[in-house]
Amino acid sequence: MNAFEFYQPTAIVFGPGTEAQTGPKAAQLGARRVLVVYGGQSAKASGLLSRVLSSLDGAGLAHETFGGIHPNPRLFQAREGVQKALDFGADLILAVGGGSVIDASKAIALGAANPEADLWDFWQRKRPVEQILPIGVVLTISASGSETSDTAVLTHDETLVKRGLGSDLLRPKFAILDPELTYTLPPYQVSCGVVDIMMHTLDRYFTSVTGNLLTDEIAEGLLRTVIACGTRAHKNSHDEQAMSELMWAGSLSHNDLTGLGAPKDFAPHQLGHELSARFDFAHGATLSAVWGSWAAYCWKTNPARFAQYGVKVWGLDPAGKTQEELAQEAIARTVDFFRSLGMPTSLVELGCGLQTEEELEELARRCTFYGQRTIGAFRVLGYEDILEIYRLANH
Ligand code: NZQ
Ligand code: ZN
Repeated sequence: MNAFEFYQPTAIVFGPGTEAQTGPKAAQLGARRVLVVYGGQSAKASGLLSRVLSSLDGAGLAHETFGGIHPNPRLFQAREGVQKALDFGADLILAVGGGSVIDASKAIALGAANPEADLWDFWQRKRPVEQILPIGVVLTISASGSETSDTAVLTHDETLVKRGLGSDLLRPKFAILDPELTYTLPPYQVSCGVVDIMMHTLDRYFTSVTGNLLTDEIAEGLLRTVIACGTRAHKNSHDEQAMSELMWAGSLSHNDLTGLGAPKDFAPHQLGHELSARFDFAHGATLSAVWGSWAAYCWKTNPARFAQYGVKVWGLDPAGKTQEELAQEAIARTVDFFRSLGMPTSLVELGCGLQTEEELEELARRCTFYGQRTIGAFRVLGYEDILEIYRLANH
């Protein structure tokens, strides 16, 4: 087991109606002026936004709203939000939405605390993250785990570079998790979320350091739960137990708990980010579109790990089977599961059509930041590997 530091400062408030506690939670942090950030229309249409504002009123907090955050949030919107936060004198940024709204809020909180900085410099690693306004979350979709994660993912408007920034200061101070808020999600978004939650743990589970018994058990238990509840949630977004379990799993899957003591892989995420950046697809769909190809390319690095995944997560019977057979069955079961959720498992199913060799090369180049990095830890992948995985997914 590698040395690690586990830091989880986010207070979780879980249960139906807990959005009524938004005002008191913000007040507890000493906030007086709250900028409330939300997305397209779902938070308004459901009445959630007005309930949250009432809760802030009840706690005597001044507030201003900043809506219209797009999925796969762009830098320009974050910059606009920073200006709004500065004009208003916000001392807390409250995200009411999913990963896109939360990540935009993290960027706004960072920009407002560093008004002299060019916001993108943080994402380019030109400036360290040293100060930030506190962030609160009212979550409306179980997916990104941004409500507990140390990451904010933004897309640059002109270069279309989609990049994550990591710092413990980006972890929200509190997250309100009311599973009933997710009942209005369309099945496609539920499924995108299920894939993303699984992938935050899979991208930690397939790693170069194995033998961490407790971490493995936590990861495998979470995956079994998400698979069982994901099927139910896809069929019925009002399934109280399934939606509750998914919400809690989403917050645990990306707060580092399921990968403690080992390096993160996250290659499928990096492969997926290039597809979202280029075509603006939903994040979870890009992950299911590439995972099977990533696994087909990488499983031979450690067949025993894939076999363990098959037995512990998918309940495969190991009797009379080689590790290679179990590994391949585990990959097939995973890809079939994504299909059963209506998720794409190739680039064509994702919706971008067959890509030319030149287009695949450009995706691969961008994924290496034009030769500046490799991706992955389970198997370290360079340009040629990445290109081959995109080729495998190109059908
Ligand atoms: O904009 P509205 O109208 O709210 O609609 C949203 C959006 O269209 C809708 N939605 C959200 N809650 C709803 C709802 N519709 C009906 N009822 C509700 N209760 O769902 C759509 C998707 O929302 P979005 O916030 O984009 O989804 P998600 O939570 O999957 O976030 C995706 C973003 O998070 C990033 C992704 O790359 C992507 O940009 N990620 C952030 C991470 C992090 N910060 O730690 C980690 C992840 O790996 C991921 O990269
Ligand atoms: Zn993700």
